[in-house]
Amino acid sequence: MQQEHVFDVTVIGSGAAGLDLALNLAEAGVQVAVLSKVELEETNTWHAQGGIAAVLDPEDDFESHIRDTLDAGAGLCDERAVRFVVENAPRAIERLVRYGAKFTRGEDGRYHLTREGGHSARRIVHAADATGREMEETLASRARKDPNIRIFEHHMAVDLIREHVPMKGLGRIAGVYVLNRKERRVDLFRSRVVALATGGASKVYLYTTNPDIATGDGIAMAWRAGCRVANMEFEQFHPTCLYHPQAKAQLISEAVRGEGGKLLLPNGERFMPRFDPRAELAPRDIVARAIDHEMKRLGIDYVYLDISHKPVDFITSHFPNIHAALLKFGIDMTKEPIPVVPAAHYTCGGVMVDLNAHTDIENLYAVGETTYTGLHGANRMASNSLLECLVFGEAAARDILRRLEDIPLPPPLPHWDESRVTDSDEMVVVSHNWDEIRRFMWDYVGIVRTTKRLERARHRIEMLQSEIAEYYDGFRVTSDLLELRNLADVAHLIIRSALRRKESRGLHYILDYPEPLESRRHPTVLVPERFSGC
Ligand code: FAD
Ligand code: SIN
Repeated sequence: MQQEHVFDVTVIGSGAAGLDLALNLAEAGVQVAVLSKVELEETNTWHAQGGIAAVLDPEDDFESHIRDTLDAGAGLCDERAVRFVVENAPRAIERLVRYGAKFTRGEDGRYHLTREGGHSARRIVHAADATGREMEETLASRARKDPNIRIFEHHMAVDLIREHVPMKGLGRIAGVYVLNRKERRVDLFRSRVVALATGGASKVYLYTTNPDIATGDGIAMAWRAGCRVANMEFEQFHPTCLYHPQAKAQLISEAVRGEGGKLLLPNGERFMPRFDPRAELAPRDIVARAIDHEMKRLGIDYVYLDISHKPVDFITSHFPNIHAALLKFGIDMTKEPIPVVPAAHYTCGGVMVDLNAHTDIENLYAVGETTYTGLHGANRMASNSLLECLVFGEAAARDILRRLEDIPLPPPLPHWDESRVTDSDEMVVVSHNWDEIRRFMWDYVGIVRTTKRLERARHRIEMLQSEIAEYYDGFRVTSDLLELRNLADVAHLIIRSALRRKESRGLHYILDYPEPLESRRHPTVLVPERFSGC
């Protein structure tokens, strides 16, 4: 029997962005539902390693953090968003500490600040090499105890529901259909406000540092509901993911390079100084492309990251988790170099929002990696993402609290209709299409692109999208089918955006147009066909 839940605010996603937003609202007495498609803590946030960027050192300053972010963003950041995030960073860290997060401190009792690519100063607050785990566990344990927050694990949002409002093109948000995965039925969440905090879409690529949840569900749902999305061509490839046949997605933090790690070819030659004066600490797009170039030039499967010249104690105290993880694969980073390759890591584009995290649909907010705020431009600088989650989580809460009293509860909504579908007898179609999308995205829409390969990818994805739509109309929904549909929609957005950008800039490198063009120095904005009904 389908259920209906009624809440002031429904937050879809339980990473840093979703939980910070929920906690800010709950503190003001608002009743919040938090949905997570798997267990609460299984998020990209939990896996984050390096840290959170914030100006905390008296020798550092906001202008320098702003300048570094703009440089890394290759001319495409929105300076207002950059300034907003950088200036709000210290209070975001303070809030986390008030919630109970413990960050690494030096002998003087002050935060130990590490360095990562693109940063001209030490400004990364961290909890050894497992910053995300500390953050997620702190936020999640607080949310679990909060009487104003109700948690729905294994609840996967399917699609947003809009209410028609005369003279308002997209109407306003009314709720969301949600697959209750344990009960295998679609429930209804009716809500004054809905917030998407569903994370990124890097699972659309075959090799990724991301956990399985990162299928771009929020971007796809917002797009289908009528929101604009921007800058989807800028997928960030992290330069150093472990290369090992048994490793699924083991990131080797950029902080390893920040603390002195060097990138080497199999013959021991250090190659990054040939590509950029900042060498291993150049922004990620430059380092990942250099590695890709060297791998293709020499026909090798990986390069090496070496920090074994540092004292054993230094390595094991700075990187205890990475050290332990590598030992399981028979690699001792205190004694030998680590084989690494680039892998899809972060979705710089997403659902367009303003500085209050509000989308194009009234009462629909979006926060975290699922959004395009203008902060990252053509390439996100390391450790600016967790920060963006916190700053926009708080900004969204502030705006919701200001407006909530005037937002009416939406009227009763239709229940999910399953009268014309049956259980699938061909799940192999779903798993085949999953693999196919991820493989051609890697091969045709990867670190180095060509128009011909992008056109080929567009052709494939459009065929798959119509096949998936047919399947979706005929069969009862499952989480695999829903994720496949979302991945296909997101892949289409990435390909279309990449085809539009006829220049190379930041993370988008296309051989047919190898230089940046002043006339293209603006975001790629895709606008869905607008409709006015529910
Ligand atoms: P997530 O933390 O990914 O959470 C997404 C949530 O949405 C999950 O709860 C998921 O279950 C839920 N969800 C998704 N779809 C649905 C649906 N349909 N229905 C219901 N729930 C749904 N950034 C930094 O700034 N510093 C770092 O050191 C750093 N290290 C990283 C290391 C790794 C290995 C990775 C993968 C990323 C790293 N990043 C780092 C990036 C950063 O972790 C993410 O950008 C950030 O955590 C995103 O947070 P989020 O709250 O937006 O989404
Ligand atoms: C890392 O630790 O290298 C990841 C940092 C980030 O993605 O910001």
